[in-house]
Amino acid sequence: MIEVVDLSFSYNHKPFIEHMNFSVQKGEIFGFLGPSGAGKSTLQKILTGLIRGYRGNAIVNETECKSYKNDFYENIGVDFEFPSLYEKLTGRENLKFFGSLYSKELRDIDEALKMVGLQNDGGKKVSEYSKGMKSRLNFIKALLHNPDILFLDEPTNGLDPNNSRIMKNIILKEKEKGRTIILTTHNMVDATELCDRVAFIVNGSIKALDSPHNLIMSKGAAKIKYTFMDGKEETRECLLNKTSEDMMLYELIKSNRIVSIHSSEPTLDDIFAEVTGSVLQ
Ligand SMILES: Nc1ncnc2c1ncn2[C@@H]1O[C@H](COP(=O)(O)OP(=O)(O)O)[C@@H](O)[C@H]1O
Ligand SMILES: [Mg+2]
Repeated sequence: MIEVVDLSFSYNHKPFIEHMNFSVQKGEIFGFLGPSGAGKSTLQKILTGLIRGYRGNAIVNETECKSYKNDFYENIGVDFEFPSLYEKLTGRENLKFFGSLYSKELRDIDEALKMVGLQNDGGKKVSEYSKGMKSRLNFIKALLHNPDILFLDEPTNGLDPNNSRIMKNIILKEKEKGRTIILTTHNMVDATELCDRVAFIVNGSIKALDSPHNLIMSKGAAKIKYTFMDGKEETRECLLNKTSEDMMLYELIKSNRIVSIHSSEPTLDDIFAEVTGSVLQ
């Protein structure tokens, strides 16, 4: 569905994205994961035809992004990082207006509002909406025309846990329908839960690309931490795949002296820090 080959781009003659390559299959949720300023939104802008001055190929739905025709947008839906809505219009009027730009059949607007808990707010002007309400309206605006490919730039940013859960469930439902989804985020919990594959992006380049599971397992360092009494309480650690070599653990188990035992896998955050040398904010 998406093919990026030898992509390069610079904002001010200074190279930013250099020789980037990746592809996204139909039906995949693909994550752009990286700290602020990494280039995630820039990449999304290239793939949605907003930035055309790139070199190499950025092919979306068989179209080279810089030379798209108007029907390009019939099959893609974009949820921008910052909501783009008409403040003087109501939520429902915004959806009607943006929906009218497409020739495709649209979702039912009231059902769409209900999906994100805005069923009682469709008649209010967007200027009266809270930040979270605008994010939710902007999100369903991207889904209105049932696009094959969805680009979601930080869709859960700034939402409370309940609304964030609702959004994530909608994203998973869209995947079930066979949609291809690009999810930009700096939230590794969301990335681990939702993405089939993630690209770690730092300073305009991809530092790693794989499924969250493989990335976590690639460092393979699941550990156990055990506590025991030895006059006072003591805690020790050992690698999960090396427990048979830990004689102290063996003796403690034999003499029933273990007070507590926990296993822990590295998180995607840990792997990100290890691979890229930077932290997600
Ligand atoms: N229009 C622009 N002109 C010049 N520099 C820009 C522009 N937009 C973004 N940048 C710079 O490009 C880098 C990547 O930005 P962005 O793609 O928004 O990152 P992210 O979405 O990962 O936070 C940042 O250093 C940002 O300052
Ligand atoms: Mg961004």
